[in-house]
Amino acid sequence: MLLAIETSCDETALAVLDAETKVAGIKADLVSSQVALHRPYGGVVPEIAAREHIRVLPWLYKQAFEQSGASVGSLEAIVVTQGPGLKGCLLVGLSFAKALAFSTGIPLIPVNHLEGHLFAFELLEEADNVEYPLLALVVSGGHTMLVLVRSFRDYLVVANTRDDAAGEAFDKTATLLGLPYPGGPALSKTATGGDRAAFSFPVSLPNELSAFSFSGLKTAVLREVEKLGPEALGDQTLLKNLAASVEWAIVNNLLHKTELALEQYPVRTVILTGGVAANGCLRQRMKDLAGSRGLNFLVPPHKWCTDNAAMIGVVGRKIFRSSKERYHNWDLKGEGFNLLGPDAVIDCAAYARWPLAEMSQAVL
Ligand code: KG4
Ligand code: ZN
Repeated sequence: MLLAIETSCDETALAVLDAETKVAGIKADLVSSQVALHRPYGGVVPEIAAREHIRVLPWLYKQAFEQSGASVGSLEAIVVTQGPGLKGCLLVGLSFAKALAFSTGIPLIPVNHLEGHLFAFELLEEADNVEYPLLALVVSGGHTMLVLVRSFRDYLVVANTRDDAAGEAFDKTATLLGLPYPGGPALSKTATGGDRAAFSFPVSLPNELSAFSFSGLKTAVLREVEKLGPEALGDQTLLKNLAASVEWAIVNNLLHKTELALEQYPVRTVILTGGVAANGCLRQRMKDLAGSRGLNFLVPPHKWCTDNAAMIGVVGRKIFRSSKERYHNWDLKGEGFNLLGPDAVIDCAAYARWPLAEMSQAVL
């Protein structure tokens, strides 16, 4: 078994998974959300988030063993998010994982959170026969990327955002419409039943594959709200129409670049992942796009699109399996917090910034 820990932002998450299977194999999967704690501030307060991770982690730890039937003795490695994320939050998970590794001698595997989102699809049984290369649209609160994945650790970031991430575009425009925190799900809910053609918002940089941009859209929504006046948002039909038009425009931006990328990079499989992949409109339209081109399409269920530890465990498992192949006599128990062979002691600092591109060709 592997134990995985995720504390990069405002979800405290722990998972236990089978170390030997290639896909799925989740034995425990716990997420404690802090949404209610941060709601009064309209956004994540890093200090509050870190303190909550400290409070909740030991409880989740106990619960993870109860749920999985595993014991500390049955763990082959401890997997933990090292970055990117809020530094104070990352430090809580890392310190917890390091202390556990140090006191038990179980090896520690640090993982990149974005690589976690990228491979969350391996939590699905269908991922067993996925065909590479694949094109992944990774959309979260902090990132918007199209990634060509030739294999594990062989990535080409085809497009990145020039300003806001797709999740930020949802969150900020939701605030402009006076919707509650967290904005993305609130905007999506308000959009249900609205007329998406009521307002027209642009696709930015339509001829450029390599860059997403959402700041123009945000400004266009602001101008529209100013033009309508604050009282107009009290009209539920108008609010719904506005929300539907904004959602449609954000999704248009994402789909347009995905189409450009598919023209340039022929792939067999399309993946949608990250917190914004919980959006119903985006899921359906990506599915239709892949279907119209005869491509396989995989998207994790909502709980594995937003932050969770299971996806971190999946990447840890890939590293664990390849390290095991490399070091035939894998038995690092008692070596302290080592990985990648008995000589490699990892100091394991928290990385606030850690681009996915740096993981390509990273030594396993
Ligand atoms: O991946 P995630 O949970 O955290 C980060 O690593 O950023 O993504 C959170 C983002 C937030 O911006 C949130 O508003 C957005 O995902 N989100 C949604 C929906 N659910 C979450 N955006 C649109 N529609 C949704 N249903
Ligand atoms: Zn995330």
